[in-house]
Amino acid sequence: MSKPVTFDLTGKIAIVTGASRGIGAEIAKLLATHGAHVIVSSRKQADCQAVVDGIVVEGGSAEAIACHIGEMEQIESLYAQVEGKHGRLDILVNNAATNPYFGHITDTDPSVFQKTVDVNIRGYFYMSSHGAKLMAKNGGGSIVNVASVNGVVPGFQQGIYSITKAAVISMTKAFAVECAEQGVRCNALLPGLTDTKFASVLVNTPAILKQALAHVPMRRVAQPSEMAGAALYLASDAASYTTGAILNVDGGYLSV
Ligand SMILES: NC(=O)c1ccc[n+]([C@@H]2O[C@H](COP(=O)([O-])OP(=O)(O)OC[C@H]3O[C@@H](n4cnc5c(N)ncnc54)[C@H](OP(=O)(O)O)[C@@H]3O)[C@@H](O)[C@H]2O)c1
Repeated sequence: MSKPVTFDLTGKIAIVTGASRGIGAEIAKLLATHGAHVIVSSRKQADCQAVVDGIVVEGGSAEAIACHIGEMEQIESLYAQVEGKHGRLDILVNNAATNPYFGHITDTDPSVFQKTVDVNIRGYFYMSSHGAKLMAKNGGGSIVNVASVNGVVPGFQQGIYSITKAAVISMTKAFAVECAEQGVRCNALLPGLTDTKFASVLVNTPAILKQALAHVPMRRVAQPSEMAGAALYLASDAASYTTGAILNVDGGYLSV
């Protein structure tokens, strides 16, 4: 019998990390528009609450829980609160990441290396492993990892960041394979250059922007809202047979 295609998230509990602004905020808003109760998370409670307030004004359902994903005890605390209050998790969007160093790869300071790995690899990994276990208790769910085109083509002078994003792509496939039997899907979204605070130096420096756009067939940067539809698709039952997929949302950058 044919399975109906649905983007409806009514009754689903979703966590979106790094949801206080940029791509994460747009994903949180779209998931809420489609019926999910969204846990809006980042390091700053007040900034998360502002996003929650916007969702609620629009008739959606959301709550703010601060969590620094580079801190293991904060991940534990987030999951204790989600499991205690909701008893389930259906969707996890791993979106919060850090890129603290621009410079030659051979000059990467060990403290910068460690911070980037702790947030972008260990953070995604333990958010996913806790999330997958909680999802499995109720028959499964969907993990969406926001990686980057730099996980495929390293960003110039963004070596350690790019390496961690390559690890997220590998992590996506590893979780997809090992968690499929528990009903947990895991997919990655690879944004190209997107107009957020994260990329503000690149987007707001005309010479750098011109150089970057020369490699983008669509010749423009993305708006953060242009990442949200792909996340909704991967999170929803419309993608019920999709796991381990790597979805480029990059204006054609990786196709050249
Ligand atoms: N913008 C681009 O061009 C681009 C391209 C490819 C991939 N990406 C990826 O897209 C994702 C979102 O980036 P964005 O461009 O939307 O950046 P953004 O606008 O700077 O937002 C980053 C979000 O992450 C939160 N955050 C930062 N460090 C955190 C931590 N350690 N723990 C928890 N939350 C943290 C920030 O809030 P707080 O400061 O309150 O914690 C904020 O909500 C990242 O994974 C990034 O690698 C972006």
